[in-house]
Amino acid sequence: MRIRRRPWAKKELEEASFYIDNPSVNIEKWKESFKISDKPIHLELGCGKGNFIANLASTHQENNYIAADMIEAMLGLSKRNIEEKYKEKNLTVDNLLLIRMNAERILEVFSEKDIIDRIYINFCNPWPRGKHKKRRLTHTRQLEKYKTFLNKNGRRNIFQNR
Ligand SMILES: C[S@@+](CC[C@H](N)C(=O)[O-])C[C@H]1O[C@@H](n2cnc3c(N)ncnc32)[C@H](O)[C@@H]1O
Repeated sequence: MRIRRRPWAKKELEEASFYIDNPSVNIEKWKESFKISDKPIHLELGCGKGNFIANLASTHQENNYIAADMIEAMLGLSKRNIEEKYKEKNLTVDNLLLIRMNAERILEVFSEKDIIDRIYINFCNPWPRGKHKKRRLTHTRQLEKYKTFLNKNGRRNIFQNR
């Protein structure tokens, strides 16, 4: 998905209490990174504009959520959507963290000590051309990495159009 630059995104993200720009510092500490640490953690990769995670996380206070994308403009839009959704419901954003991460480097951010109970990948970029296929968030090489920290009874929810 192409998106134009959002000049305001960097500053707004820096000011958001639920945004982490350098998430590798949280490796092996994800549980304690939340206000209530004993909830299951669900992770969305490639969250885009954040509509899905904003709805899900504000509805399911019984879980903690991490939403990741690698594009600053997307993260900026996500941040705004998350704030709006939580505000509508009169909630504080304390069960959701938004992180800037290239999923190709996911093992610098999550280790086997960070148990993730569910992974969501919605409509990832297809990268149909041969040499680019490996960039797809659902490529086997990526799925192998996710196994490192996905709870053995955990689930992957993947929706894609091809
Ligand atoms: C087609 S959009 C879908 C966005 C959203 N999931 C939805 O359903 O509307 C794919 C998103 O994945 C992100 N993405 C692609 N490759 C990624 C990677 N390696 N790491 C993190 N995010 C990635 C893109 O920046 C984009 O926001």
